[in-house]
Amino acid sequence: MKNHVLRPLWVVIALIVTVLLVRKVMVPADFGVHGRNFTYGFHRLGAIDDWKAFPVKYRGREVCAECHEDKTAENASGKHRIIQCENCHGPVMNHPENPEALPIDRSRALCLRCHTSLPYPTSKRGNLPAIDPNDHNPDAVCSECHNPHNPDL
Ligand code: HEC
Ligand code: HEC
Ligand code: HEC
Ligand code: HEC
Repeated sequence: MKNHVLRPLWVVIALIVTVLLVRKVMVPADFGVHGRNFTYGFHRLGAIDDWKAFPVKYRGREVCAECHEDKTAENASGKHRIIQCENCHGPVMNHPENPEALPIDRSRALCLRCHTSLPYPTSKRGNLPAIDPNDHNPDAVCSECHNPHNPDL
């Protein structure tokens, strides 16, 4: 074969070898078809145990109702009824065994992530009742005036 044919051939062969070597190094040994077909079987076997070991952090508001009946009822009757308790109070997995571990966040930032005015016409975020944080009682904590569990005006 002529040189100008051979040279690109060597380049292609070198490329394929490189790809195979890189694949050998990068792809975990337990990755493959574990199961009957490619659609669902194609995965890393160790991923199953990894996800089983993944710590659960949230419990959902049904659990809170057992002990905080008043707050749950209050929350369910107001405009914040669609917001999970743990959205504001953080993950509650180790509570109440350890109630001190659940500090209450009274910062303005907690509320402003949803209520800062962002008038994007193409986004539902723009429909939330909104304030300008620099004008709206800038030095005061929101919950001094608004009940976070039932903020109806
Ligand atoms: C088995 C009972 C129980 C459950 C379930 C429970 N709590 Fe509590 N919680 C307590 C007790 C006891 C305290 C400490 C006394 C108090 O402040 O009422 C407390 C305190 C709190 C406090 C105040 C902490 C502080 O520093 O004053 C918050 C906020 C709270 N819980 C939120 C929640 C949320 C949200 C859930 C559900 C995801 C929940 N709790 C589930 C029993 C419970
Ligand atoms: C929109 C945010 C938000 C949501 C949603 C929310 N909370 Fe609160 N919660 C607060 C804030 C802020 C405080 C502190 C209020 C203050 O300044 O005293 C508080 C205080 C509390 C306290 C302790 C103080 C008290 O008055 O006894 C408990 C207990 C509590 N919340 C439970 C709940 C439970 C249960 C839910 C769900 C049913 C819930 N919260 C939903 C923001 C929220
Ligand atoms: C996760 C998003 C979220 C967070 C965090 C949040 N809110 Fe809200 N808030 C809402 C939604 C949703 C509504 C209901 C809007 C509706 O009914 O149209 C609402 C309604 C309100 C209203 C009633 C406004 C009106 O026009 O009637 C007030 C006041 C309010 N929130 C204050 C607060 C305060 C204070 C905090 C912090 C303690 C807070 N919110 C945290 C989403 C949030
Ligand atoms: C000094 C009391 C006070 C404080 C502090 C305060 N507000 Fe208000 N807020 C009001 C009053 C009164 C209204 C109703 C009149 C108005 O729109 O100004 C209101 C209205 C609102 C509305 C409804 C706006 C609308 O157009 O529907 C939202 C949302 C709101 N506040 C969120 C907040 C948030 C978030 C904080 C903290 C960052 C906060 N407020 C702090 C008194 C207060």
